[in-house]
Amino acid sequence: MNILLLGTGGREHAMAWKIKQSAHCTALFIAPGNPGTAFCGENIAIGVNDFPALGAFCLEKNIQMLVVGPEDPLVNGVYNYFKADPSLSTITVVGPSAKAALLEGSKAFAKAFMERNGIPTAGYREFTKENYSEGVAYLQSHSLPIVLKADGLAAGKGVVIAQTTEEALDSFEDMIQSSRFGTASERVVVEEFLTGVELSMFALTDGKDFVLLPEAKDYKRIGEGDTGPNTGGMGAVSPVPFADAAFMKKVMDQVVKPTISGLLKENLVYKGFVFFGLINVGGEPFVIEYNCRMGDPETEVVLPRLKSDLVELFLDMENGNLANSIVEIDPRAAATVVLVSGGYPGDFVKGKKISGLTTAFNEGTQIFYAGISAKNNGLETSGGRVAAVTSYGKSIADAVASSIVAIDKIEFEGMAFRKDIGYEFKN
Ligand code: AMP
Ligand code: GLY
Repeated sequence: MNILLLGTGGREHAMAWKIKQSAHCTALFIAPGNPGTAFCGENIAIGVNDFPALGAFCLEKNIQMLVVGPEDPLVNGVYNYFKADPSLSTITVVGPSAKAALLEGSKAFAKAFMERNGIPTAGYREFTKENYSEGVAYLQSHSLPIVLKADGLAAGKGVVIAQTTEEALDSFEDMIQSSRFGTASERVVVEEFLTGVELSMFALTDGKDFVLLPEAKDYKRIGEGDTGPNTGGMGAVSPVPFADAAFMKKVMDQVVKPTISGLLKENLVYKGFVFFGLINVGGEPFVIEYNCRMGDPETEVVLPRLKSDLVELFLDMENGNLANSIVEIDPRAAATVVLVSGGYPGDFVKGKKISGLTTAFNEGTQIFYAGISAKNNGLETSGGRVAAVTSYGKSIADAVASSIVAIDKIEFEGMAFRKDIGYEFKN
């Protein structure tokens, strides 16, 4: 079949790489893609939110499956756009409807969904301009730290963990009164701070049945030892050793199953990936967030460990056959180390010439391109996160070590990365 994938990051390069290996894939197009996805298919210069142009392209190329990488088009209703047009409605869309994508698109929606369905999450309140003074009083009397979240999409920047009441009040004012994240922060969720280790779980669902993909842990802070500001993700590992059978049983019973049955009960049309951002609090799983798509950089370790044909799983999803699907997982560990531009996540300069990407690539190491563009007969940096270098290993430490050996061959001015990805799991 002919497949169109939406997106442009390392996640989408990993998806394109995996889709291309499928026996079901005749032709793969990526809109807009990057020079890495161009190894796996044909890049098309259409933006992920330009639904009319995407629809016209699907008709022109006889596309039968649309796979959506990022959250933006999902929250903007790409699923609904395709299903509402009779000439496009037979195309399989991998991604939830706009209403169901609110699990990511609105923190308040997600919290209320969890409350209704008895899913463990931090206690919370929500505030807007209308009950602003109540919010101020709440923050003044609450224990610290306390977490403030802009309700809407804020490109991963909408969460503040305030260590002092003053910081909490300043952020609260900034979000609600000064619209720091535009309309996304008109509503703010204030929640209890949870202490524990985080991990990411992924399900593919048709809104009734589901399969689980390998779990992963990502490393969000810029600095080694998890220090400094948050980033889009500096690396990831899979499997996650503390996610043992006993913990995973709790995740299944208390989080995954009630989430999927909640979708069905509430008529939320969901055919796609559910990303469970979890935190392990003393052996008990709590949901920190839902995302309506795969994670980045988690995808760069999850898909390399998936031995099953991904497109076949998408077809099972479309045909309501996920209850019979078999997910085969590579027993090896995988780790990815993200190369970033100097200065990121603060200001950084783009357009730095990159060398060594092809020599660094080898049998055990894949390089997934992110902020890279083709210019002047070569490759240049075009974003904060530039590439994700993924390796397999007998252990997480082995996999990370192989990625670091490969990275030694890659160069661009200002290149930075964390050498300590997976540091808690040394054996
Ligand atoms: P989010 O954008 O919801 O993923 O939040 C970003 C990060 O903030 C998470 O990955 C956590 O590290 C942290 N975080 C969010 N909510 C909480 C919470 N209730 N308790 C502790 N940490 C949190
Ligand atoms: N790695 C976290 C995310 O994709 O949101």
